[in-house]
Amino acid sequence: MPSVYQLLPTTDGGKPDEQLTRKIKREKIKKILFHVLAVSAIMVIAAQGLRAFIRSSERFLQYGGKGCHGMQRNLSSLPSHYSLPSGDKIPSVALGCWKSSPGEVGQAVKAALNAGYRHIDDAWIYGNEKEVGKAIKDSGVPRDQLFITSKLWNSFHAPEDIEPALDESLKALDTEYVDMYLIHWPIAWKKDENVLDKELTANPYPTWQKLEELVDKGKIRNIGISNFNIARVKNLTGNALKYQPAVNQVELNFFNPQPELLKWSKDNGILLEAYSPLGSNDNVKKALSVPEVQEIATELGITPAQVVISWHVQRGTIVLPKSVTPSRIEENLHVFKLPDDLFEKLENASVSHPPQRTLNPSKSWNLGFDVFDEKWPF
Ligand code: A2P
Repeated sequence: MPSVYQLLPTTDGGKPDEQLTRKIKREKIKKILFHVLAVSAIMVIAAQGLRAFIRSSERFLQYGGKGCHGMQRNLSSLPSHYSLPSGDKIPSVALGCWKSSPGEVGQAVKAALNAGYRHIDDAWIYGNEKEVGKAIKDSGVPRDQLFITSKLWNSFHAPEDIEPALDESLKALDTEYVDMYLIHWPIAWKKDENVLDKELTANPYPTWQKLEELVDKGKIRNIGISNFNIARVKNLTGNALKYQPAVNQVELNFFNPQPELLKWSKDNGILLEAYSPLGSNDNVKKALSVPEVQEIATELGITPAQVVISWHVQRGTIVLPKSVTPSRIEENLHVFKLPDDLFEKLENASVSHPPQRTLNPSKSWNLGFDVFDEKWPF
């Protein structure tokens, strides 16, 4: 093959045109550079692809590729229980019974117990304790293997009203004791009037003392609170309590992750329980479509709901997903430790927008103030 120089055009009888020669040289250098760059880019992309492949292969092995039902090898699971100050163990995933209609809730509880749940979260105000109690009995699961929660409604905070309210729940649930009894809201109503009892709301200590008495009587194993913000917790724990609140059940989800409350509660030894963890009926679709949730689900081969439920447990909270659909009930029980980078990705995404609550009954209760405000007018 002739070299490129041999083909150069000439202007004066054989002498190459220098300008043209330089131009051709430049073109050649450009071409070589282009090729070097292209090859480097391909190598970088290939290396990245290889790294991603290795990472996802590792995760595939770790998560079993399709982690929906936890049947695979090498699953890396999160804690199934937390310890309470009483020494009791509380399962980290519970079946939430709020918004499960009568006629539906019983079969949901049965499906849950069948799938392996041992923690059922209920409340007097949900109006379904009888059906839940029957389903529990029918399941044949021994009582001492179960963790059952009920909650004291706003109308019964007066010390003399507490034991009858608890007894009603115990009777409906067909049990001699509840494992956890929560003050449902930091709001006391005058009985039969649904108007604020300012005194008992401002000072929940008499209510708490009665609950402590019922612990000693054996009708309640652990006491806790629900929907209390930091100021409300301090308002209670500022008293000389015999038993500290074991848990605080609050709304926690992608749209309302409450990182400050979570940190403060950890620092102060109070476990948080996440209600509406998937965003509740109205926002579950939106929550499960969050790009980060979808990406993590795809990468790990688990479902978006499992990503979110796992994230809650990995944050150190108890999680109470509600479902009346047996396949979802089973799916929701299986939590997996998200790799740290993916956990952080979701945590950051959850705080990258203004918090938005699913539930705030302050207006419908005509409180005249926001129950979640740190400062109250009295
Ligand atoms: P359903 O009860 O019809 O199965 P939260 O736990 O935040 O309160 O959300 C409850 C809502 O989320 C319900 O509408 C419930 O529907 C739905 N849900 C529960 N588990 C799943 C799941 N694994 N996938 C999709 N939706 C779910």
